[in-house]
Amino acid sequence: MQAVKAEPNVPFVDLKAQYASIKDEIDAAIAAVIAQSAFVGGPFVKEFEQAFAGYCGAGHCIGVANGTDAIAIALRTLGVGPGDEVITAANSFIATAEAITMAGARVVFVDIDPRTYNIDVTRIEEKITPRTKAVIPVHLYGQPADMDPVRALARRHGLWVVGDAAQAHGSMYKGQPVSGLADITCFSFYPGKNLGAYGDAGAIVTDNPDWAAKARILANHGRMAKYDHSIEGVNSRLDGIQAAVLRAKLRHLEVWTEARRAHAGRYSTMLEGSQVVTPGELDGVRAVYHLYVVRVPAGRRDGLRASLTQAGIETGIHYPIALPYLNAYRYLGHTEEDFPEALRASGEVLSLPMFAELTEQQAGQVAAGIRAFGL
Ligand SMILES: Cc1ncc(COP(=O)(O)O)c(C=O)c1O
Repeated sequence: MQAVKAEPNVPFVDLKAQYASIKDEIDAAIAAVIAQSAFVGGPFVKEFEQAFAGYCGAGHCIGVANGTDAIAIALRTLGVGPGDEVITAANSFIATAEAITMAGARVVFVDIDPRTYNIDVTRIEEKITPRTKAVIPVHLYGQPADMDPVRALARRHGLWVVGDAAQAHGSMYKGQPVSGLADITCFSFYPGKNLGAYGDAGAIVTDNPDWAAKARILANHGRMAKYDHSIEGVNSRLDGIQAAVLRAKLRHLEVWTEARRAHAGRYSTMLEGSQVVTPGELDGVRAVYHLYVVRVPAGRRDGLRASLTQAGIETGIHYPIALPYLNAYRYLGHTEEDFPEALRASGEVLSLPMFAELTEQQAGQVAAGIRAFGL
């Protein structure tokens, strides 16, 4: 007899629960796109772009095919290309670094601040060379990077700032949306993100109308008018069905974000006095907890994870190998001494279940599971 895999008691994310809560709106949104055959570009894309620009408090939003393309197109928009260097954090999803290479530039990593897991702003300057053109702070796990020092450095050295907000829809830094703090900010709407599509999708957000126009051209084959191409771009357009889904979900994002923040607060209270280190926030930020990441004492992370799995609690690791140590970046020749904090974090971080629909009882089960392991 074939064993049937049981559903976990506490899943890591639960996209089915979210769909169930807004099924009618989603089904109607998708049906409307099909009825109008507005599959690529068109009114649904335009409506979402306007709504998301408004949500970000930004002048322009350009929908693209995914968050990785958003970063690569943003860099190309700013004129970054072959021969240039772009600085980013050693702890992120590979997409951040991959997009730098896609734009033709060289990736330069900086170690992380062990408290926030974001780029260590005190270590950026030593990586700047005459070839450095841009810095990409990543607002990882939904926690804004420390943008004031990043902006000051960028101004001093004449660098562009491209924000990677793939995990940070709605996050704020000192009262401002993170998208207002970079020259261009990039979002991913991968299904599991805080604002997730029903497939791949992404967006570029900026206040600068010239960059907005150039990014839109680059994302659409370098097209000026039908069959008139001034440059070679890429095919990276947002499709109508994704835009309609995103437009419907955007109406709920603030409620979902507040739910995530409440879950995070609850976890942190329940884990007070335990041996796991709960997430630290900079003063004056609104973190949106795409992920709730704890740090587990050295050598005990994998045991804890196995024990939680046994109890029906799903967890994640973001990320098990810091970017400079991936085989993909072996050519950069880094050693373990180069990024000690990113290296240490990769062995100790554990992401607990986090999604808006998480119940208090489920969060309690997770905390109890951690205590039961003796932490
Ligand atoms: C930090 C970060 N940057 C970039 C991306 C790329 O986004 P996408 O998967 O939509 O290409 C992701 C998500 O996957 C991400 O988490």
